[in-house]
Amino acid sequence: MRLLIQPNYNSVSYWTAEYIIKEINKAQQKDKKFVLGLPTGSTPLGTYQYLINAYNDKRVSFKDVITFNMDEYVGIAEDHPESYHFFMRKNFFDHIDIQQENINILNGNAEDLEKECNDYEEKIKSVGGIDLFLGGIGPDGHIAFNEPGSSFTSKTRIKTLTEDTIVANSRFFDNDMTKVPKTALTVGVETILSAKEVIIIANGHSKARALAKVIEGGISQRWTVSALQLHPKGIIVCDEQAVYEITVGTYRYFKQLEKDNLINID
Ligand code: GLP
Repeated sequence: MRLLIQPNYNSVSYWTAEYIIKEINKAQQKDKKFVLGLPTGSTPLGTYQYLINAYNDKRVSFKDVITFNMDEYVGIAEDHPESYHFFMRKNFFDHIDIQQENINILNGNAEDLEKECNDYEEKIKSVGGIDLFLGGIGPDGHIAFNEPGSSFTSKTRIKTLTEDTIVANSRFFDNDMTKVPKTALTVGVETILSAKEVIIIANGHSKARALAKVIEGGISQRWTVSALQLHPKGIIVCDEQAVYEITVGTYRYFKQLEKDNLINID
């Protein structure tokens, strides 16, 4: 697992966007579709903005990109401002040339939620699997909505959200915990690990405890993102604040190892 400790959030976003652009363009040169797994949350906003800028500058096209979002709340309307459908349109899809039929987001209002999850797994398989899964993490180390204790062999399914996550996400629901949905549909840990590449982005102090566990604490279902250590091509890209709790030795080790991949964008 690689760890890139960038100087700040802007650098995390820029580096990640450039990496994705390179991968999309590589696939395009081979006339291949590129399958991209995507997260919501505040962390990817900078990356999305850099991708939009690159599209506007004609450095990348999303015409042959197929996307699969990680998760969606159960029971809120697609046009609710906090639904992940709405988030993705507003912050990314409405600004690029992606084809509507290539966008896949779980339907949290499906009549049969279990079928919805199984169909999602089948759809991923039918396009040849995910080439690159981009993800963020929750303060409790969850990835997508794979809350602590989630099995590493889990696939797309319904999950009950923990109080930690409901508190963290209440900032998007007028700081009112009662307005946060209690369940969500989410890809599983195994769904993410099955991608050919996984990039996890994290910034800020609120992620420091989780990153310390993941980087130095070994593999544990308590911190589901630690499953990344099992992936042959897993990268964590974070800012300085997000690694506030790792030891100086580990910090220096990764800084040295990745010194050619660190950039400083103010
Ligand atoms: C939610 C999402 C996760 C996301 C996390 C962190 O729980 N399900 O996919 O990584 O929030 O969000 P933020 O980036 O806003 O910290």
